[in-house]
Amino acid sequence: MSQTVQGVVSMAVGEPVAITEVVVPDPGPGEAVVAIQACGVCHTDLHYREGGINDEFPFLLGHEAAGVVESVGDGVTEVAPGDYVILNWRAVCGQCRSCLRGRPHICFSTHNASQKMTLTDGTELSPALGIGAFVEKTLVASGQCTKVDPAAPATAAGLLGCGVMAGIGAAINTGGVGRGDSVAVFGCGGVGDAAVAGAKLAGASTIIAVDIDDRKLEWAKGFGATHTVNSSEADAVAEIQALTGGNGVDVAIEAVGLPQTYRQAFEARDLAGTVVLVGVPRPDMTIELPFIEVFGRGGALKSSWYGDCLPSRDFPMLIDLYLQGRLDLDGFVSETINLGDVEEAFHKMERGEVLRSVVVL
Ligand SMILES: NC(=O)c1ccc[n+]([C@@H]2O[C@H](COP(=O)([O-])OP(=O)(O)OC[C@H]3O[C@@H](n4cnc5c(N)ncnc54)[C@H](O)[C@@H]3O)[C@@H](O)[C@H]2O)c1
Ligand SMILES: [Zn+2]
Ligand SMILES: [Zn+2]
Repeated sequence: MSQTVQGVVSMAVGEPVAITEVVVPDPGPGEAVVAIQACGVCHTDLHYREGGINDEFPFLLGHEAAGVVESVGDGVTEVAPGDYVILNWRAVCGQCRSCLRGRPHICFSTHNASQKMTLTDGTELSPALGIGAFVEKTLVASGQCTKVDPAAPATAAGLLGCGVMAGIGAAINTGGVGRGDSVAVFGCGGVGDAAVAGAKLAGASTIIAVDIDDRKLEWAKGFGATHTVNSSEADAVAEIQALTGGNGVDVAIEAVGLPQTYRQAFEARDLAGTVVLVGVPRPDMTIELPFIEVFGRGGALKSSWYGDCLPSRDFPMLIDLYLQGRLDLDGFVSETINLGDVEEAFHKMERGEVLRSVVVL
């Protein structure tokens, strides 16, 4: 027996999203149905509705969520009905060449539910990042459910499902930020501010937040930025060099997804430093770099898929830090909204008014 629930669907490029009836099948083998309690609005949802990810419309948006497992299919052992979970969009397979080499956090064969959720006329939906969580209930692979302490409210916990995990992981897992490092973060939205918070957690002593919006820079200070640069008014690279004794930073994190900010990150790092790209570029973007500098500066140019996280390792650990008061997840929640407010939340995001709008169900 399938069930019909309310969800937020993007039907065509650029069209406003709307609440639509969504048919959720019963979980098959290896699948789970999860009742969503809260789901954050991430810039990637907006990328989907702008056609910037792929053209497999209609999309069931939302992917930064926590909720309670309602039912599971045959063979599911890792979660059971009633479990409080954060949904992850990289369920590791355990069998690909990367997993077999002991690197499950960069699994090359992550998976989602095999069955499809549909519109009532049978049209198959593409769930955002294989989740689709602006909806009362969603169908996922059971490996996408990571159990965490139910003492953490879903508005905070859900954020670890995407942007906050991506940012913290970009700093700690991908960038390898450590005690005494200098770090610059380009773009201080939910992802960038999480990178700032991650750098602080890891013990960085200089954390430079760069954005074109003074409100964002103010918020970044709250998460641990020691300095801020408004790059619409100043040369970000020169400012960062001036703040680091003329050297540049050890780790430069790009959290916008633009060639120009990537270039700034490239130029603002010290010799042997690391650039981390966590912002998602559009498919038509290209980047040109002085090749001799790629060599001459040494170090590493890395990309961060989901903060190179391992959900089973990182979600419970970060929830514990939150419950101990050592990681401010509530600070990312600018507002809580209803399912019907997602389109307006996109506009607030574009106007820079929010870090995260969080849909509460
Ligand atoms: N790698 C991953 O796994 C992953 C996960 C989640 C999100 N993302 C991506 O991370 C990026 C950021 O997501 P978000 O939800 O924080 O978005 P957001 O819209 O909340 O934040 C983007 C920030 O960048 C700033 N900005 C825009 N242009 C800039 C410029 N030229 N220079 C400096 N700052 C500029 C904006 O003012 C804003 O503060 C997006 O591209 C998103 O798709 C990646
Ligand atoms: Zn794998
Ligand atoms: Zn996201």
